[in-house]
Amino acid sequence: MFIKTLLLKDFRNYQQISLSPQNGLNILYGKNAQGKTNLVEAVYYLSTGKSFRTNRDVQLIRFDAESARISAAYQTLSGGNTIEAVLKKDGTKSFNINAMPIKKLGHLFGHFSCVAFTPEDIKAVKETPALRRRLIDLEIAKIRPAYFFDLKSYYQVLSEKNALLKKRIGEDEKRLISVYNEQMAVHAKTIIRLRTAFLEELKEAFNQTYRLISGEDKTAGIIYRASVEPENIENAFLSKAGSLMSREIEYRQSLFGPHKEDFVFMLDEHDLKLYGSQGQQRTVMLAYKLAVLNMVKERTGESPVLILDDVFSELDFSRQNRLTELLAASQVFITTAVPINIKQTYHAFVVENGQIKSG
Ligand SMILES: Nc1ncnc2c1ncn2[C@@H]1O[C@H](COP(=O)(O)OP(=O)(O)OP(=O)(O)O)[C@@H](O)[C@H]1O
Ligand SMILES: [Mg+2]
Repeated sequence: MFIKTLLLKDFRNYQQISLSPQNGLNILYGKNAQGKTNLVEAVYYLSTGKSFRTNRDVQLIRFDAESARISAAYQTLSGGNTIEAVLKKDGTKSFNINAMPIKKLGHLFGHFSCVAFTPEDIKAVKETPALRRRLIDLEIAKIRPAYFFDLKSYYQVLSEKNALLKKRIGEDEKRLISVYNEQMAVHAKTIIRLRTAFLEELKEAFNQTYRLISGEDKTAGIIYRASVEPENIENAFLSKAGSLMSREIEYRQSLFGPHKEDFVFMLDEHDLKLYGSQGQQRTVMLAYKLAVLNMVKERTGESPVLILDDVFSELDFSRQNRLTELLAASQVFITTAVPINIKQTYHAFVVENGQIKSG
């Protein structure tokens, strides 16, 4: 799929702009702090209803404005569509697809589809498991909208259980903890199953893409550290919950489950965060994102829009060229503050202080 026109009103530093990108490579070039990331942030917002750099939507509304609007006309294989997001200062937001309101955020997934690769994603290799879970969860939710709702329900029960664990625990509370555990086990089963299936499906394309972009003869992989063995999940979860109950009461919090799981990115047998060079870390994460893009494309027949924010110019020239060759069939937005020199044809836009010109 590809965006034909994008309109922004009072979004970040944009007062009002309209942009017609091409179905192919679009390079957004400009000095620092001009609005390059803001623009791709708006595109991404349309696909997930969230920014990739803040959880606070009010930050997206232009200083002094009351509301922000992002809208796009996009083309899919089955025809033309429109999508619109409106964010208000009071924290409310609404979405329309083809002028029909979307009632739940989870229902936004699967319409306008976008994969973004940002400096934050590279941080995920090195930093907390929470960032890596987010990286994986968001992508699964795009392919399997039900995942989003299971995850949400799991976290809801988890927070109720954690609130209970802060109180004095008698026999009644213990029974209630068991009830929570049973509910969590049901959601954990779906979450762990889908995480396992997602990584299995991704494996081949992930490794191949890594080899293609890097030109290295190394195997890239992801090890899933699940909280229970991915067989007989519900029973395994319940028996672990039973044996950990007294410790959870002692520590006054839930000690295991999908909210504690981790994903370790590997290159050959080595943990990427400990042994990978910066370029390798960047390329592995890029390969992960492209493998996701490929998976969505295989499942839906539609290639998602790809965003590369500030990550392209850090790759060496041969990696840049191999990458852009791979991307020939997708609409891509690349932001950069330094000029780019690649063989493929592209359309250039110059971003300057919230204004955009064709360059
Ligand atoms: N809500 C907002 N209202 C108005 N301006 C904003 C808002 N949020 C951010 N900005 C401005 O947007 C600018 C940053 O834009 P952006 O992050 O897109 O820069 P960039 O072109 O990607 O720069 P870099 O090359 O440094 O990454 C800053 O000048 C910032 O003050
Ligand atoms: Mg930027």
